[in-house]
Amino acid sequence: MDWGMRNRLAQLIQPDGRALFLPIDHGYFQGPTHKLEKPGETIKPILSYADAIMLTRGILRSSVDPTNTKPIILRVSGGTSMARKEELDQEGITTSVKEAIRLNASAVSMSVFVGSPHEHETLLNLSSLVNECEEYGIPAMAVTAVGAELEKRDARYLALACRIAAELGARVVKTYYCKEGFEKVVKGCPVPVVMAGGPKVDTELEVFEFVYDGIQKGSIGVNLGRNIWQSDYPVAMIRAIRSIIHENATPKEAQQIFEDVKSGKGRGAR
Ligand code: R5P
Repeated sequence: MDWGMRNRLAQLIQPDGRALFLPIDHGYFQGPTHKLEKPGETIKPILSYADAIMLTRGILRSSVDPTNTKPIILRVSGGTSMARKEELDQEGITTSVKEAIRLNASAVSMSVFVGSPHEHETLLNLSSLVNECEEYGIPAMAVTAVGAELEKRDARYLALACRIAAELGARVVKTYYCKEGFEKVVKGCPVPVVMAGGPKVDTELEVFEFVYDGIQKGSIGVNLGRNIWQSDYPVAMIRAIRSIIHENATPKEAQQIFEDVKSGKGRGAR
């Protein structure tokens, strides 16, 4: 692997082999998502606890201080919207690799929609993106997306999607956690796997439990947004999740960190 590629991957995946990516890219098809109406405000208190942020060029330029030193994962696919839910799988490449370099991105990311009518186009888009990214030493992260079909997220489907993304050259794959058989998803994918959070769930503990379990089963960490920044206590949330990822905290210990930070006691992850 060339120096540039290794260096960029090292900016994202920490020396302990783990990663906490903070995505704020949701507006690219959802519009002004709840609590992400002003992305610059949303990330202000929590950015320092993330290893990287994932976002589009529009939000990067308009809402992130360029003296920010967090690595950038630039979302480079899109072209669809929630107004046409049945066409969410028709994403194309929206942003060039040249633009990613201009923005000093550490990686680019794009969605593939395995099993959807436009599976073929999105997989070829990933292949073309990887061809270009490899030329410049920029890792491509594949997002195994399901559009509005959240019920698709079982181990068999996720293993299929992750493996295909890795076969086409993604250096990192983002997928969903599933309770049954997640170890098979990770085992079948030869590159690091990070987990998305999905829509906000009812309790913090549910998040801590799935992050913990996913890591025990081989995931290197998360690319987790709504369950952090839609929380009423986003700092407590990200610090608790960080403790699971980088300090091997159990869900119970993470819950305690959450409660402590929430109540102002402040014990927490590094
Ligand atoms: C989807 O809108 C984006 O690709 C997100 O980056 C991804 O779904 C992870 O965010 P969340 O944890 O909110 O699902």
